[in-house]
Amino acid sequence: MKIAIMGAMPEEVAPILEHLNDVEEVHYAKNTYYKAKYKNNDVVVAYSKIGKVFSTLTATTMLELFACDVLLFTGVAGAVNPELAIGDLVVATKLAQHDLDITIFGHPHGYVPEGSVYIQTDKDLVALSKIVATEMGVKVKEGIIATGDQFIADEAKKEFISQTFQADALEMEGASVAVVCDALGVPFFILRSISDSADMDAGFNFEEFVQSSAKVSAEFLMKMVDRLVRA
Ligand code: ADE
Repeated sequence: MKIAIMGAMPEEVAPILEHLNDVEEVHYAKNTYYKAKYKNNDVVVAYSKIGKVFSTLTATTMLELFACDVLLFTGVAGAVNPELAIGDLVVATKLAQHDLDITIFGHPHGYVPEGSVYIQTDKDLVALSKIVATEMGVKVKEGIIATGDQFIADEAKKEFISQTFQADALEMEGASVAVVCDALGVPFFILRSISDSADMDAGFNFEEFVQSSAKVSAEFLMKMVDRLVRA
């Protein structure tokens, strides 16, 4: 099984790369892909750059060019659910694009014809994350993640995303990765650790916590990879 591990920013994949052996850099489409071995298994790691377009390109490349069989995403997110604090882990059960809007034609937010508002993640991978969380003794929130090409630092925008999508967390890549994996029939998993609360302090908090929260997410993800390569 070839495992794709993706983040959006260098900080999100750096802790993953530390675990790998025999790393080979492949340059493709103005990005770097790290082909490597982890416990004798093939993995491909990359950060896409921020946003839906770059993450779509990277996810598609991981699946089509590198022929990965499963895609795992690790990174940080802004909290929408007030129960979530900085450093908490969120596992996406489904994702939606909060900035996709053709409501003028009578469609719901996040919907385009022949698409769907939500895309579900792989149930077996979510179940595996539950086992890993129990094993590690950490709390993980399963919930809805909303994605858009905006860094949200505004209570009104956050409230709109909360009300419209019942989102627990928001970020800028998950739903586009979900669209790619769903279309290509590849199981995928989206994990995030909270870096901020998408409020007026979000910019400041993000800069302070992006590295530590990215590491929390990456280390949890590697525990899942441990289980996957053992299976
Ligand atoms: N990723 C982490 N925090 C975020 C925020 N507030 N908005 C969008 N993406 C994020």
